[in-house]
This record gives sequence, structure tokens and C-alpha cells, in this order.
Amino acid sequence: MPTVVVVGTQWGDEGKGKITDYLALESDVVVRYQGGPNAGHTVVVNDEVFQLHLLPSGILYPEKLSVIGNGVVVDPEVLVKEIQGLQSRGRDISGLRISARAHLIMPYHRVLDALQEESKGEGKIGTTLKGVGPAYMDKSARVGIRVADLLEPDVFIQRLEANLRDKNRVLKYIYGREELEAGPIIESYLKAGEILRPYITDTAILINRAIRQGKKVLFEGAQGTLLDLDHGTYPYVTSSHPVAGGACIGAGVGPTRIDEVVGVAKAYTSRVGDGPFPTELNDEIGNWIRETGHEYGVTTGRPRRIGWLDLMMINYASVLNGLTAIALTRLDVLCGLDKVKVAYAYRRGGQVITEFPASFRELADCEPVYEEFPGWPEIDPAAKSIDDLHPNARQFVEFISEKTGLEAAIISLGRARDQSLTLRDLFG
Ligand code: IMP
Repeated sequence: MPTVVVVGTQWGDEGKGKITDYLALESDVVVRYQGGPNAGHTVVVNDEVFQLHLLPSGILYPEKLSVIGNGVVVDPEVLVKEIQGLQSRGRDISGLRISARAHLIMPYHRVLDALQEESKGEGKIGTTLKGVGPAYMDKSARVGIRVADLLEPDVFIQRLEANLRDKNRVLKYIYGREELEAGPIIESYLKAGEILRPYITDTAILINRAIRQGKKVLFEGAQGTLLDLDHGTYPYVTSSHPVAGGACIGAGVGPTRIDEVVGVAKAYTSRVGDGPFPTELNDEIGNWIRETGHEYGVTTGRPRRIGWLDLMMINYASVLNGLTAIALTRLDVLCGLDKVKVAYAYRRGGQVITEFPASFRELADCEPVYEEFPGWPEIDPAAKSIDDLHPNARQFVEFISEKTGLEAAIISLGRARDQSLTLRDLFG
């Protein structure tokens, strides 16, 4: 099976970076298909920790192509900084390719992201303030500026000036803020464009050619299913499509080209930002998991909200993404707990609900129905088969498979690349 999509089944931060990096070892091309610098992937290679925001996880393998697809929103200043950061650590990034069709995050997007959040007060979404939402808004409004425009300075300047006329009116008259000047933006963006020029290309052609040639292509989603603009816990969502279908649009491949969709599920749940969270743990156990799992945002440093694993959510994600397997992460974080719970249904107004509700008010009213498991004292990071896991951990994994109807193809046993157990070869 040559093409695999990796998606998050929860609210992001499931450990997709680690799973993508692990699967990237086997693939020829790794494609990021949506989101922007709101994402944060942590990858550990030989004890070296890399935190990536815009670059696909595959970038840490110099011989692979690492593609930023058209569906991504690119902040050129962030990207250049990330590239230079890797280069200064001796990393070869010659495999990078950036879609000429990807849209740019502009300085006014970052400013507007903050102002829009501020004006929502209590009802704020809790965005990462990276300008992602406003950049996608401009893309839909057909006034966005694209990566290709960085290579044609006259076009870039003309589009920027047209946009600034509008944005400055909004900044001045709606928010009472200072207007932005074109000069410094032009200078820094065109400079970044020159640094990015060698990597900019038509990535859809490149990806489809690789698929035709039988190469192994991995599509890497950012965020998670519950943050999807259409299918997530709207309005507490991001502005793009993390679901597997997003890979088709955000990379430029047809649905018939996708062979496997693996859903990454963390052994518990976390969420940054606001919105309902049925299995949330506002207690000592939640704090313990947060500290043990270092559950703080890679991009924002915000403490993540923590809760038990919620299979209502995973089953919903399974349907929406057409999951063919699960990659289970962070079983090791739960080591040492006496009891571990898993929600497999909700109760609302005395009734048991088995479908994930669309209304966030309804979701906020739901109480999880739990199955409780005895905890496991340790996870052997070198386990070679499911039988090497502690029987209680195995019982937990088997329960997830039983309730979701999905096999666990990969179980992550720790942070490092080699601390992973493959139960089925997804590229096999
Ligand atoms: P935005 O994507 O910055 O607009 O934020 C919208 C929502 O998505 C907020 O709740 C963010 O906390 C959340 N979000 C965005 N990116 C990530 C991520 O990579 N991991 C987890 N949550 C994210």
C-alpha cells in the first residue's frame, strides 16, 4: 500500500509528529496538507529534540522529499527561521518543497487574530494567535496572497497594497489601532521569498508523479479531527480540514489515490483552547498526567486540559476519516496510575448516547460512561510484540480495538523513534 494518511483523532497533540516521523522512515515523500504555524510537532532523534511548526516531520530525513502542500498557510518569516534553525544544527533540508499555491500568513493576519479573539471576550476560541484563521478567511474571500506571489515582486506589492487598504480601515475604524505600513512588510517578505525560492514548486504534480511511480507517500495532518472546521466542535475549531479528506484538497491528490488512513489516538485526551470536553479531569490525576506527559503547547506553551480517553470521539473520527487502523500513543505516560478509565458512551438527561453530538451545548451536557481498568506499572520501551506489554496495558489496548473495530497498527512506547511497536506494516 503506497499512500498513507496520518490524522489526529482527538483535539490535536496526539503524538502525530512521532508517528509521522516513524512512518517517514519507510516513505519516500512526506506531505503536510493543512494548518500552519499553529501546529507543533515534537520529534526526538538520538536524544536530540526537534520542535517543528511548519516543516513536515519528514524533513529530518535528508534523502526524502518533504512537501508543504497547497492547503497549508505559510508564514514565511516563521518558515525561514525554522529552516535556518535546522541548518544551524547541521541538518540538510534540500528535500524541502513548498507549494506555489499555498497561501501566506501576513502580519495583518496575526494582528487581526489577536484583535478578533480579544473582542470575543469570554466567548474567545483560544486560538494560537498565529494568524491562521484570518489567513484562511482571506483565502476563501479570494483576496489571499500566495507563495507564488513572493517570486513576482510587482504582483506581491500590488496585492499587498490592495489588502492593506482594506485591513488598515478595519484596524483604524473598527479596532482603533495603528495602521500597518507596506514598506517593512515588502522588504521582509520579499527577502524571505528569495530564501524560499529554490524550494517553491508545483507540489501537486510532484506528489502525483511519485504516486504513479509507486513511491511511498505519507500525508501528515496537523491538529486533529475534533478541530476540523466542518466536523469538529465548532466554533472551537481551527480554520482548515485536518480530516483525511483534507489531504486530497490540501495536497492535490484524488481520493482514489489514498490507500490507508491511520488515526493517531493518545491513551488519554488533551485539549488546548476553549470548548466542551466531557472526560476532562479537573483534579489531581489530571494534573499528574499533565506534568508526567509534559502536556504544554509546543507552539504557545499553554497548559493543556487533560481527560480520560474518549472512544465516542475516536469512533466519530473513525467514521469521518475512514480509518483503517489506529496508532496508539503515550501509554507510557499513564504508567503508575492505580486505575485508568476509558469512556465508551455518554449519558445525557438519563439517556445513553452513542453518537457524538453536533451541538456543543449538548456535548457540554454529556456525562461519560466509563469502563475502568487496573493500571500498569511500566511499559517496556523495547517491547517487540504485544505480548511483551504488561497484561493490564494489553487489556486496555484490546478494549480500544473491540470498541472501535480497529486494530492498533502501531503502539508508541516512548518519545524516541525506536520506541515503537509495529503490529502491522501500513506500507506493506
Ligand atoms: P487556530 O488554529 O490558531 O486558529 O486555533 C483554533 C483552535 O485550534 C484553538 O482551540 C487552538 O488551541 C487549536 N489548535 C490549533 N493548532 C493546534 C495544535 O497543533 N494542537 C492543538 N490544538 C491546536
